[in-house]
Amino acid sequence: MKFIHITDVHLVGDNGGLNGTVPSMRLDACLTDVVQWHSDASFCVISGDLAEFAEPKAYQALKMRLRSFPLPCFLMIGNHDNRAVFQKVFPEHPKDSNCYVQHRFEKNNCVFLFLDTKKEGHGVHEGQLCGDRLDWLKQQLIQAKDQPTFLFLHHPPFDIGVPYVDKIRLQDVEEFAATIKYGQNIRHVFYGHVHRMTYVSWRGVPFTSLPSLNHQIPLNAASVQGEFCDEPPAYGVVQIEDDQLTVHYNTFLQRNPLHQT
Ligand SMILES: [Fe+2]
Repeated sequence: MKFIHITDVHLVGDNGGLNGTVPSMRLDACLTDVVQWHSDASFCVISGDLAEFAEPKAYQALKMRLRSFPLPCFLMIGNHDNRAVFQKVFPEHPKDSNCYVQHRFEKNNCVFLFLDTKKEGHGVHEGQLCGDRLDWLKQQLIQAKDQPTFLFLHHPPFDIGVPYVDKIRLQDVEEFAATIKYGQNIRHVFYGHVHRMTYVSWRGVPFTSLPSLNHQIPLNAASVQGEFCDEPPAYGVVQIEDDQLTVHYNTFLQRNPLHQT
């Protein structure tokens, strides 16, 4: 089976610009590319930072676009999002019994668990998995038994060597590490937040992240002017087989022949 991973869309109300680009245009180009080349995917997930300033208009812009997008699309929230505003615009989106934006999806015997690492508070950017959220995860992992299981987080529980994001990673690291031990067959963890493509093996578990659809964080802050860099956006095309998992980083704006007129 195949699914699409998108992260850190950072939409701005009224289709506004952000850090030199227009997030809604990037999202449109991405969704169009997915529909054109990967409409056979089983689902799409957007792993948080849906909106830059969490305005209702930004979430409404996302909702409007997803209405005509043919794949089931699971949404997660990140540090830039506001859970209450998101849930007001997307009241039908699945949530757990404590109203966190967490849910389980199952297909072809694979279990997909979408987690909510948003920590409440204005200007708070680090991640949190409180006891209630970790209890939910524990129960899901126990229930999954030995089924192939895939986790989705916004914030990673580790440093990647980029201070800008390392200082705002997930805070509840040991609690998360203890909880995932209940998983008998966690095959992979997908995350966002760092605005870079990475592969990380953490305590024996493989993780991958993607560039943001809008702006990237430089590997070395001294290598660019300003906070962000113009490395290309990408979405992930993930292929899952019994004995293999493949992640393609699809830099959809760079398929030159298709964009030449
Ligand atoms: Fe982000």
